[in-house]
Amino acid sequence: MVKKCSIKELLDNGNFFINKKVLVEGWIRSFRYSIFISLNDGSTIKNLQIILSRTLEKKIIKKITIGSSIQVLGIITKSIGKKQNIELQSLDIKIYGYTDPCIIHKSILQPKKHSLEKLREQSHLRFKTNIFGCIMRIRHHLAFGIHKYFHEHGFFYLHTPIITTLNCEGTGEMFQVTTLKKGTKDFFKRKTYLSVSGQLEAETAALGLGKVYTFGPVFRAENSNTSRHLSEFWMIEPEISFYHLEENINLAEDFLKVIVKYILDNSIEDLSFLNEYLKRWSKKKTNSLMERLEIVLKYPFQRISYTEAIKILNQEEKKQNIKFFHSIIWGMDLQSEHEQYLVNKYFKIPVVIFDYPSCIKAFYMRINNDGKTVKAMDILFPEIGEVIGGSQREERYEMLLQRIKDTNTDKNKLWWYLDTRLFGSVPHSGFGLGFDRLVQFVTGMSNIRDVIPYPRTPDNAKF
Ligand code: 4AD
Ligand code: MG
Repeated sequence: MVKKCSIKELLDNGNFFINKKVLVEGWIRSFRYSIFISLNDGSTIKNLQIILSRTLEKKIIKKITIGSSIQVLGIITKSIGKKQNIELQSLDIKIYGYTDPCIIHKSILQPKKHSLEKLREQSHLRFKTNIFGCIMRIRHHLAFGIHKYFHEHGFFYLHTPIITTLNCEGTGEMFQVTTLKKGTKDFFKRKTYLSVSGQLEAETAALGLGKVYTFGPVFRAENSNTSRHLSEFWMIEPEISFYHLEENINLAEDFLKVIVKYILDNSIEDLSFLNEYLKRWSKKKTNSLMERLEIVLKYPFQRISYTEAIKILNQEEKKQNIKFFHSIIWGMDLQSEHEQYLVNKYFKIPVVIFDYPSCIKAFYMRINNDGKTVKAMDILFPEIGEVIGGSQREERYEMLLQRIKDTNTDKNKLWWYLDTRLFGSVPHSGFGLGFDRLVQFVTGMSNIRDVIPYPRTPDNAKF
């Protein structure tokens, strides 16, 4: 039996395969001089060069068009061309699916530069493009690296429900889940929604298992049509018992650094492709993609309190003679313009902001002794802004009850959550990482819709 190989396997171990007979399958990227086929099977950004055998029937040669899928039986030889180390001398070719050149012209598969917006309109074909292939492979490696990190640090992977009754964050709209038709009873006999976060359930699990993390889809029906918001996105939420805010920040920083290092170690070909792509096409004059990743690794993150952040922004307005659109007042939620200023202009490294005013944060965060601020923390990254939001949780029953009342949260739906504070309550903390925002940062994409296979945003669920 002849071994079936992926193109990655062949190119990574070129010399080993020389003079060996192999089977390769993939889609044709180009066909030049009626002899050279560039084949890609998605396993790598690189293509395999195939030399067409002279003995192939005309009938088959006619079907060798861009986009067609083929199987090639051949022998690997050393290439005399400079572009590649090895190539495949074909003995036999089987056509799986023919692609008519007429439809290729109208599609994003035509080999020329297409805008990322146009790629989004042909979401079903995006996976066959170089750029989206890179992004999807990186997305996979990031997800894998994240599971590896938590597994190696003693965390248990927890599956929290997608259908819930409450809004953990307390802000923004939720998507309702219902089977209700006129005159019928609803399925769960109560109002249910798609979850905005698995945190509350993760807390209950951490209070028995010690360390857990979630990695799943969450849903937010906010009408935020921005380059950083999706209506359906993926979130990672670790939750740790016996953990204070500072330990939580330390974990988040270590985690982000290890993941960025992991992707540099495991996806360098795809990252290099994106680095060059962005250098060539990006209009913004910012650090290169590789430089941005290196900055995450090189420096400790800047840690400042919310109050210090407000002070800096106020001072900068006066000193640099700039005017923010939203004026800076203690108690306001920091807007994207303020976060961008602190990260991109002022510190130029990732920034952790902690101790936010309680009035702008969710009910579950622990109140500080000043009575005004909570043990919250956000991590802001260059270009994309908030990548992580987390906190130490309020573990004191009475205080939590008070916060639930103060924030007009429905206490009756939270009895099971409150209950945990009566059975050996402990200080505990956690955070949520927006996975798609991390992929956006690592791939340098300016729009979050370009890093997820089928983006869901307001007015957009076409595919
Ligand atoms: O800051 P958020 O709302 O925090 C929580 O949901 C907490 N329950 C997390 C926790 O402590 N366990 O969301 C966490 C992260 C944000 O920092 C951001 O990166 C991302 O989720 N995020 C979004 N990503 C894409 N589209 C959206 N609409 C997002 N909203 C938040
Ligand atoms: Mg947040």
